[in-house]
Amino acid sequence: MKALVLSGGMGLRLRPFSHSTPKQLIPLANKPVLVHVVEALKSLDVTEIGIVVGDRPEKIAEALGDGSELGVRLTYIQQDAPRGLAHCVAISRDFLGDDDFVMYLGDNLLTEGVVEMAREFRAHRPAAQLVVHQVADPREFGVAEVDRTGRVLRLVEKPENPVSDLALVGVYFFTPVIHQAVAAVEASTRGELEITDAIQWLVASGADVQARTYTGYWKDAGRIEDVLACNRELLDRLKPAVDGEVDAESELIGTVVVEAGARIVRSRITGPAVVGAGALIEGSSIGPHTSIGEDCLLREAQLSDTIVLDRATVQGVRSIRGSVIGREASITSADADASHRLIVGDHARVEVAA
Ligand code: TTP
Repeated sequence: MKALVLSGGMGLRLRPFSHSTPKQLIPLANKPVLVHVVEALKSLDVTEIGIVVGDRPEKIAEALGDGSELGVRLTYIQQDAPRGLAHCVAISRDFLGDDDFVMYLGDNLLTEGVVEMAREFRAHRPAAQLVVHQVADPREFGVAEVDRTGRVLRLVEKPENPVSDLALVGVYFFTPVIHQAVAAVEASTRGELEITDAIQWLVASGADVQARTYTGYWKDAGRIEDVLACNRELLDRLKPAVDGEVDAESELIGTVVVEAGARIVRSRITGPAVVGAGALIEGSSIGPHTSIGEDCLLREAQLSDTIVLDRATVQGVRSIRGSVIGREASITSADADASHRLIVGDHARVEVAA
């Protein structure tokens, strides 16, 4: 079985970060969500992986290379514009050949993995096998109507009056018959080739389409709030490891990772938290649920429930919470006149304490 990871798209909901970097590279517990995806695929013994890329493909290639460091073989497939998930399948036809494959959205986090579902798919090879998850409000998802045996009867995109609470998660197992379905469907009203339409085409043509319910933690890290939630979830599973320096005046409470070359000076780190390689934390209070990237400088700072990306600086600012601070961004306290001075990039969001 091969894998197809979708790592293109616009990422509008993740602006301003998606202006400079594909959203699938946003770090969760200091590791890009895309790396979490590749590791999940490896746990299924899938090592031939195609990655559909859109804007700034070089950033993804920089982060993942040819995959050898992760123990997989990566093939990059360029998509000219985000024309839909089924379009990704169509442009990957040469890579996929006539193999079965698992399609995985590059911004989806499923912490419990789908090992058992992959085993079942390999054993029975239905035309398609979908991963579904029970949600409180199905109206914002693609929803599957399923019979008692798990066979899919119908798929509905964002139903106004849902008859099922089983949302499609961003993981799909396909046999090559999906290519026929993708070729048969036309662009939807929003101008995209929809994978739900292709799967519905399979259902309507009598093919065996199955759904299996995933009960673990799942999130599509599509918005900042979701990214922070995923970060919290992964930090909660962290194992403590201190490879950097912690001075005698500092205190580590709970599960804390201090990567090699990081220095903690006169500070308190409350886990779960991770401090990236080469970062300097001085006179600060960090955590819980906080990830600090590589080579950051935090001095007289206080942060919780926050992600700080590589090489950012925070100095003399307290009470930062629920925040994501971009690469090389600088946040410092204002001069004595107590006014705020903001140099904020396009589509950024700032909420100051009044
Ligand atoms: P979405 O999150 O649905 O799309 P998006 O990236 O355009 O997000 P936004 O609504 O914020 O603009 O896409 C799901 C995943 O599939 C995501 O990892 C991006 C990827 N994708 C592609 O690779 N090609 C595509 O044509 C589309 C639509 C998505």
